[in-house]
Amino acid sequence: MSDKDVTEVVLADAAGIARAAKILESGGLVAVPTETVYGLAARADSPDAVARIYAAKGRPDFNPLIVHIRDEDQARRYAVWDTSAEAAVMIHWPGPLTVVVPALPDAALAKAVTAGLDTVALRCPAHPVMRALLEQVDFPLAAPSANRSGFISPTTAQHVLETLDGKVDLVLDGGPAAQGVESTILAIRDGGVWEELRPGPVDLDALHRHYFETGLPQKIHSDPADDRVEAPGQLASHYAPGKPVRLDVQKVAPDEFSIGFGRWAGDCTLSSAGMLEEAAANLYECLHLAAASDKPRIAVAPVPDTGIGRAINDRLRRAAAPAD
Ligand code: TXA
Ligand code: MG
Repeated sequence: MSDKDVTEVVLADAAGIARAAKILESGGLVAVPTETVYGLAARADSPDAVARIYAAKGRPDFNPLIVHIRDEDQARRYAVWDTSAEAAVMIHWPGPLTVVVPALPDAALAKAVTAGLDTVALRCPAHPVMRALLEQVDFPLAAPSANRSGFISPTTAQHVLETLDGKVDLVLDGGPAAQGVESTILAIRDGGVWEELRPGPVDLDALHRHYFETGLPQKIHSDPADDRVEAPGQLASHYAPGKPVRLDVQKVAPDEFSIGFGRWAGDCTLSSAGMLEEAAANLYECLHLAAASDKPRIAVAPVPDTGIGRAINDRLRRAAAPAD
């Protein structure tokens, strides 16, 4: 509960998952492992439970939450689920892909989940612990990343405690997150037009090519000039380590904590082999270490801007943006 000082961490085994399910049923908050980052979960159909998420994170109430579901059948209870939505998730569900689709007007979701929008963000996670949890409860789980709003996202149970200790009823420890950056967010617009709202582990260009080759008439659109704050996680300053961050650095200053990539070794190295998937998995751990170090500033090596590298650079730019 929010007045506890210390949050209990339990192993995400069968007993841990059963306990988490009970807490969620009664409207509590549980930090859960997913394949991307740890999520701060509550039942999405309860206004009180969802209000607790916003309070624990200190999250602005105009920033809607992702609703986690077990399969497409469950998705159909909450959203207009047409052939474009079916095509979008065919390959990557369960997995790190969130789709923003029109919400059903009578969907049993707390109003705050969608923050007043007429769309809903749905994700079917692949992590076995989340899957087991979603099988055990008969409601979907609203779950933003399990960190104070604006801070670095958590990829371990320990990271969750750094900003949410005492504010969550339980942390389920499922080890480090495999992918390490948040899901790709894809909005499905009228006429089946796809729009990328957040780059992530699922490469939408590759997905688009796949559909082009198989003859499915999907259009994809991502307009960087369009600055509507529709996914406020996309606000400039986010994932902030609390000290200045320099990107694409060639030469590190003595007072900088260095984050390396490839042969450019740092105090923490994203991937010495220059593998982007490995770099994504290590990104937030390196930022957490950089934040905790004595060095007052952070320097980051250049990271190629292809595939999941786009998501890494997106998060790094936001970590480097001055807080407003
Ligand atoms: O990988 C992930 O997606 C993780 C794990 C826990 O599932 N979750 C996550 O949640 O990253 P969060 O709250 O940190 O980011 C959700 C993003 C926010 O930028 C929010 O604005 C956007 O999704 N979002 C949610 N509902 C939306 C909607 N209806 N339309 C547009 N954007 C939406
Ligand atoms: Mg977040």
